[in-house]
Amino acid sequence: MRKFGLIGYPLSHSFSKKYFTEKFAQENITDAVYELYELPDIAQLPKLLQNHPEICGLNVTIPHKASVIPYLNQLNDAAREMGAVNVIKIDKNQQLIGYNSDYYGFLHSLKRHLQTWQATTPMLKALVLGSGGAAQAVKAALNFLKISYQVVSRQSNLGANIIAYQDLNEAYLTDYQLIINTTPLGMYPNIEECPPIPYNLLTMQHFLYDLVYNPQDTLFLSKGKAKGSKTAHGLEMLYGQAEKAWEIWTM
Ligand SMILES: NC(=O)c1ccc[n+]([C@@H]2O[C@H](COP(=O)([O-])OP(=O)(O)OC[C@H]3O[C@@H](n4cnc5c(N)ncnc54)[C@H](OP(=O)(O)O)[C@@H]3O)[C@@H](O)[C@H]2O)c1
Repeated sequence: MRKFGLIGYPLSHSFSKKYFTEKFAQENITDAVYELYELPDIAQLPKLLQNHPEICGLNVTIPHKASVIPYLNQLNDAAREMGAVNVIKIDKNQQLIGYNSDYYGFLHSLKRHLQTWQATTPMLKALVLGSGGAAQAVKAALNFLKISYQVVSRQSNLGANIIAYQDLNEAYLTDYQLIINTTPLGMYPNIEECPPIPYNLLTMQHFLYDLVYNPQDTLFLSKGKAKGSKTAHGLEMLYGQAEKAWEIWTM
């Protein structure tokens, strides 16, 4: 039996096990299972692999996307560039190779939404809320689409192109119409949280994309909808990145 799974902590919010279990059933894949492996500390990864030698592929989620890198034997170019890994393939020589499928998932989902919203990318500028693992994939996709962006972070010493939440004023909200939440704020079970942006400045011209997919109607998106902004949740990205992960594990 081939084992696949997800490492991260906590994992109570995750849809991945349900997604892959249903996929295996629908596609009559009878020699594979998908499990959740809660790892509070990434240093527990070697032990996990020792205990489960049948594991041939893993997804990586919050908070290990960057900290997992020292435990890998190889990185593909895109994952190296982003400094974030969300897919590990374990080859027949037990080599651990890191990839990033969040990039593909986000890129395809955003492109589809931009078409639906009839938003023209040369005009669009984006605010990327948060600077963690998923933000690296989002930034790479925005670069590919030639959408310029500004990162908004709690940390003030992250260098150029990064501002603090307190800096978000009317000028920024007028200039930047696409707002992408890459923070876990609003994710189950903390559904009463949302990124601290000036929601009163949102308009019908804004597009809010939340990477959070559980719940789908986050407070961030609800506040945008209340102001007439267009919104998208993270489920489509989740499916896109999961299918890309499967392609990587089975190629
Ligand atoms: N839909 C999908 O397919 C998909 C894919 C990947 C991730 N996600 C979701 O995206 C979220 C982030 O995942 P990740 O792996 O990027 O996590 P991560 O590496 O831990 O990064 C999250 C970033 O959010 C900011 N942040 C964290 N806690 C915060 C708080 N209390 N207040 C304000 N900002 C906070 C931090 O940036 P600063 O320090 O710069 O503020 C942090 O680096 C999770 O909810 C995850 O489920 C969804």
